[in-house]
Amino acid sequence: MVRPEVIETVKATVPAIRENGEKITTRMYEILFSKYPETKELFKNAPEDQYKRLANAILAYGANIDNLENLQTAVMRMAEKHVETNVKPEHYPLVKNALMQAIKDVLNPPEEVIKAWEEAYDLLAETLISIEEDLYKKQQLV
Ligand code: HEM
Repeated sequence: MVRPEVIETVKATVPAIRENGEKITTRMYEILFSKYPETKELFKNAPEDQYKRLANAILAYGANIDNLENLQTAVMRMAEKHVETNVKPEHYPLVKNALMQAIKDVLNPPEEVIKAWEEAYDLLAETLISIEEDLYKKQQLV
């Protein structure tokens, strides 16, 4: 469960993140690929607008953080795409680190805002990791 203060902070900062969404995700990929070059390979077939998809997903998540059932179809699609491209649980902290650094670089918000988005990210990451684990297991049965 996400704490009520986190829900409040995330929802309150969705507009600022939305306004800068593409800047933040573009910066995120810059950081991700320079700090963790091993992740580049995963994106070799990614469409050019991948950074927009990630920005939109994160924003949709922030906006619906107290209504996560609205996102079920989108989350399932992300998990399927991740399994297709061999994204693994150990990649999630790398994206988290790059994303938080990108938010700091672009918006420089108070620490409390970063903390709230970190918690929100963790919850989404846990959800994705658990669906992806099931999908990987199913693949092994085929
Ligand atoms: C909570 C964290 C994450 C969110 C919200 C997210 C979101 C998304 C979304 C929305 C897509 C596009 C799905 C579509 O095509 O419709 C996607 C695809 C993808 N994501 Fe993530 N993702 C997350 C974590 C990660 C991590 C940790 C990695 C690994 C470094 C990763 C790598 C990829 C790759 C490789 C694709 C497929 C690109 C392609 O070939 O089309 N993602 N993700």
